[in-house]
Amino acid sequence: MKKITSICCIGAGYVGGPTMSVIAQKCPEIKVTVVDINEARIEAWNDKDLDKLPVYEPGLAEVVDEARGRNLFFSTDVDKAIQEAEMIFISVNTPTKTYGVGKGRAADLKFVELCARQIARVANGDKIVVEKSTLPVRTAESVKRILKAEAGEHEFQILSNPEFLAEGTAIDDLHNADRMLIGGDQDEKGQEAIQALVDVYAHWLPKDRLITTNLWSSELSKLTANAFLAQRVSSINAISALCERTGADVDEVANAIGSDSRIGPKFLKSSVGFGGSCFQKDILNLVYLCRHFGLPEVADYWEQVVAMNDYQKHRFAKQIIDTLFNTVSGKKIAFLGWAFKKDTNDTRESAAIYVAHELLQDRAEIHVYDPKVPKAQMFRDMEYLIENPGSVYTENPLPENWRDLIVVHEEPYTAMDSAHAIAVLTEWDEFKTYDWASIYAKMLKPAFVFDGRNILDGEAMAEYGFEFRGIGKGLEKARANVEA
Ligand code: NAI
Repeated sequence: MKKITSICCIGAGYVGGPTMSVIAQKCPEIKVTVVDINEARIEAWNDKDLDKLPVYEPGLAEVVDEARGRNLFFSTDVDKAIQEAEMIFISVNTPTKTYGVGKGRAADLKFVELCARQIARVANGDKIVVEKSTLPVRTAESVKRILKAEAGEHEFQILSNPEFLAEGTAIDDLHNADRMLIGGDQDEKGQEAIQALVDVYAHWLPKDRLITTNLWSSELSKLTANAFLAQRVSSINAISALCERTGADVDEVANAIGSDSRIGPKFLKSSVGFGGSCFQKDILNLVYLCRHFGLPEVADYWEQVVAMNDYQKHRFAKQIIDTLFNTVSGKKIAFLGWAFKKDTNDTRESAAIYVAHELLQDRAEIHVYDPKVPKAQMFRDMEYLIENPGSVYTENPLPENWRDLIVVHEEPYTAMDSAHAIAVLTEWDEFKTYDWASIYAKMLKPAFVFDGRNILDGEAMAEYGFEFRGIGKGLEKARANVEA
């Protein structure tokens, strides 16, 4: 198989944008064109002002600056990019279905199917089609059938190349990937296609990190990886609830178990709950697949990971209401953070949205500050949750004037001024550096802080005078703080 010289990626989102930027950076002889139907997004990718890129990721602007205009291009001309490319990545969104069969569980593959049909329709030669989106196992079969049925004389090879990057560290993850997984057909042509993609990644990744498998193993590995990662978070969060009842400290427990090399220290940080566009959606999809393949016990097992996450978000919101004397109605609650994690502007499935919804049900007045998330996004998030509650805890209606009850601040101190309580929803580093003494002075007393990310020093906060609640921090500390 000849070397790839031209790549197209359909979907210029959180995965397509950074992934293709790094491929272009590391493979200067390959022309990489990222296309999207969202004109505003493409315009932002082409903006001279690198602060306006549509995805915020540390290090991304530098990579784009190096490659854009050299061999990295962003365009809305999808047909042309497909025709020019020998290899086409599909990196479109695959959200949970919000309608019809599989609603609330199955992955919505309509965008992937549209891409397959478009590729088949406009292709002017043989192509390698790479599934970069996260897809249910055996999706490649459907993609193949569509391509074959529509394509005429051209030949297509389908590869599965799921993306394991984490938002917030995407560029580092891409530069130093633990592994790059490439699944393909096991016949000669399939192997040639796999090799063509291996050669792309071999520009910067050591050969032993390029794992090749059959198509189905690759597709299933992505869902499994996310299910395992999310399961660890739900497991430690389940233990955090027990810590709060018993006086144990969840960080001490995590440290103790994490030093067992069989368990390992990563992904054991207890919090208000995991968010992001992937974990919940991919587990629900796994659950749906298990039921589809007649494995209800396996489905129930994985479903519990999501149920525990819903419970954790609910527990946090309920603790705020309970602690504030059983109602937050008319009370000012400051939210530090709205993004689902630090160093990203992505808010999909962020715990903040769910906690806000529960507090609004009790008529709180929420004052939000997030360094990267714009106000309009927060309102879109709330509207989406109202339309798609997804959890028993967010099914109750909000007061009609809920929009007036969310106030978005451009800087943190006004958000916390005269507040009854502060809730830390995202672990942005800057929150640790605030002038907490003066924040305390300006809050209503007792001044409560609920640290949903365990990033603040509980003892120091108690010394300032706060009534401080961390996640899984045990009754003893909580009681000591109340008495102090
Ligand atoms: P995204 O929503 O940020 O981007 C997807 C883009 O595809 C959108 O800009 C949309 O306009 C575009 N698109 C949809 N249909 C199109 C079409 N027919 N033609 C052209 N453009 C089209 O989604 P994101 O986060 O980049 O995720 C993409 C896939 O990668 C999903 O399957 C996701 O599960 C997976 N993934 C996401 C990760 C993440 O951290 N966000 C990590 C690993 C995998």
